Amino acid sequence: MSEQPPKYEQQLRQQLIDYAIKLNSSGLTQGKSGNISIRFDNGFLITPTALSYQQLTIEDIVHLQLDGLPAIEGQRKPSSEWRFHCDLYQHRDDINAVVHAHPDYCTALACTSRAIPAFHYMVAIAGGDDIPLAPYALFGTEQLSHNVVTALTQRQACLIENHGLIAIGSTLSESFHLALEVETLAKQYCEAIKLGDIKLLSKQQMTEVIAKFKTYGQRN
Ligand code: 13P
Repeated sequence: MSEQPPKYEQQLRQQLIDYAIKLNSSGLTQGKSGNISIRFDNGFLITPTALSYQQLTIEDIVHLQLDGLPAIEGQRKPSSEWRFHCDLYQHRDDINAVVHAHPDYCTALACTSRAIPAFHYMVAIAGGDDIPLAPYALFGTEQLSHNVVTALTQRQACLIENHGLIAIGSTLSESFHLALEVETLAKQYCEAIKLGDIKLLSKQQMTEVIAKFKTYGQRN
């Protein structure tokens, strides 16, 4: 980049780096795996491909337009998964941040082709009565993006078969904390499976939870 981005953009780039480092420190992901992005200026800012999060500087963050083209010449190569980030921003105008990681328990379930069913009422935190599984496709492909966008039509999180987890939200903080929550649910589900038969909540019970979540919290 020839010149420094404006202050607001610098802050967003730094925020992306802070959360990328948190991906590692929280245990959501290991090493360079995973990637995160935030909507910005008719496009989005995304982590670069194959660089250690600890070493990132704000110049390493990549600005892509919604057609996937780089906004700035000569910048780093974007995450190999830029396509599903891009397609999610195009299909979901309610979201502003995407977190993709390979957390241990989500990935263990995804590698045994399991979604997370309504084994616990907190599953509703992802917007429905399950946390779905997007079918496997090669990383970085249009097919994977299609599978992810389809799984996230009415959800805020999904597992990706033989791969990992995606969480989306209106802020980076929201997407990141949802990713942590889904990993906790995945761990609890893995433990419950080991104990034997799981009693799943019914559609009606989950509908009640989803309705109650709308008024849960400190709002009036
Ligand atoms: P990138 O380093 O290209 O973001 O790829 C990491 C990854 O997890 C791919 O799914």
